Amino acid sequence: MSSFHIKTFLFLLLFPFLTYSFQTSRSPSLSTTRTSLFSTVGEPKKKKSKEQRLAEAKNGLSVHVIGLSIHHASVDVREKLSIPEVMWNDASTNITKSPYVSEAAVLSTCNRFEVYFSSTEERPAMSDVTNYLSKRSGIPPPILRRSLFHLSSTDCITHLFRVSGGLDSLIIGEGQILSQVRQCHLHSIQEDGRGGKVVSRMLEGAVKAGKRVRSETDISKGSVSISSAAAELSEIRSMQALQLPFSEARLCVIGAGKMTRLLITHLASRGLQRISIVNRSYPRPRELAEQFPDVEFEIVLEEDMFDVIGRSDIVYTAASCEEAVISKRLLEENGLINRPLMIVDIGVPRNVEKDSEEVPGVTCYNVDDLSAVVARNTAMRQKEMMEAKTLLEEEAEGFATWQGSLGSIPMINQLQQKAEEYRTVEVKKASKKLSSLSDRELEAVERLSRGIVNKLLHGPMSHIRQSSGKLEDVKDMYGLGEEGKGKK
Ligand SMILES: *[C@@H]1O[C@H](CO)[C@@H](O)[C@H](O)[C@H]1NC(C)=O
Ligand SMILES: *[C@@H]1O[C@H](CO)[C@@H](O)[C@H](O)[C@H]1NC(C)=O
Repeated sequence: MSSFHIKTFLFLLLFPFLTYSFQTSRSPSLSTTRTSLFSTVGEPKKKKSKEQRLAEAKNGLSVHVIGLSIHHASVDVREKLSIPEVMWNDASTNITKSPYVSEAAVLSTCNRFEVYFSSTEERPAMSDVTNYLSKRSGIPPPILRRSLFHLSSTDCITHLFRVSGGLDSLIIGEGQILSQVRQCHLHSIQEDGRGGKVVSRMLEGAVKAGKRVRSETDISKGSVSISSAAAELSEIRSMQALQLPFSEARLCVIGAGKMTRLLITHLASRGLQRISIVNRSYPRPRELAEQFPDVEFEIVLEEDMFDVIGRSDIVYTAASCEEAVISKRLLEENGLINRPLMIVDIGVPRNVEKDSEEVPGVTCYNVDDLSAVVARNTAMRQKEMMEAKTLLEEEAEGFATWQGSLGSIPMINQLQQKAEEYRTVEVKKASKKLSSLSDRELEAVERLSRGIVNKLLHGPMSHIRQSSGKLEDVKDMYGLGEEGKGKK
């Protein structure tokens, strides 16, 4: 018999048994897996579709997220809900006090607040989590609900993986959210964490996916803010404009406000160690110096501005003043001609007169040049997003498949039990007609029947196991033979 015929034969043989087994089951997890099981036996070459595998994620404990984010809620609601990182596990513990919530993990950052949890009963679990949030924030549930979003199963998984990959951030691909998701995962597996098997595994998968997105795509490359574009552009153009590697350039910043702080953050991340800051008074530059202990600051007052410009190779201007602080006339009056000098103006309104670039040796960039860099990089990130999406989908699917397999453990047991039941009944029936057989021959019949059943079950079982990831994990989670029990 050809392999095709054997498979068809097995399929036909198994059909009534499988149908019976599924019909007797009350668990929804079994019915979702039915198609895949049949397709393995009946149509061995057809792979399970993505939808099918993702649908399996619904088996056993289902995962959910309730949260709010920059896209959904106002700042004051966000502030009321936010939970400091040291209390994430405390909050998760309180949330899992609900009999319907099995596992929970809190992710609270300045841009988002999300509670990931698993449950066997969705509705009461949702309402318990919402009530907890309401109690904690002091916002009544009906009002709170307007700011909340809720996603389940594959939507929840997809959301978390997108968050971790930086696709849900204001600045696409930004890296901070990945480290926050990593923290969330680490907390969830601590002794007082409540991530359990499913939620913590989902977080772990999200971290892995987030790392892959950033290492395998260019989604986080290229500056997408004016201040980081200033750092990027001056680094790239340093050699050309100054015949000097960026690391050797002497830097000076005029102004000590918010833009300066952002700029220094980006310069520091590029290895900058020394910087001169020009300002009207000392307090603000001193505050800055305290924020960047690794950078050596020289604080210069306004009146010595051209003296320090004369000692610098790159000057960034970020002063908030109506009049330009640098112009052709001022540069000439202070003898700053015929020497290489790069001026990067990130001030709005502009701090540098347009005629400054007429001065020999001077290269100027203004906010328009920087905006062009930002626009280019943003467009590039959009393109990289497509690639990132595919990659995240792949990773999310991996988790969903693993999670789906949790629901298949009870099924394996049920399959085995049913098969054994049928076998004993059939052997018993036959043994009446086999009374003339010797004990040895009867034993051979018994063994034959076992052999046939095992052979028949082998295909479907190993298929189920293969998609189960680590079976041991799964076994000790449910305890073989037990239906998914919620609480630890
Ligand atoms: C958790 O519950 C305890 C006891 O009700 C309460 O004191 C604590 O503030 C709660 N913590 C959080 C983060 O909800
Ligand atoms: C000094 O810093 C303040 C605060 O950022 C800013 O408004 C002001 O324009 C700065 N002055 C100069 C000369 O840079």
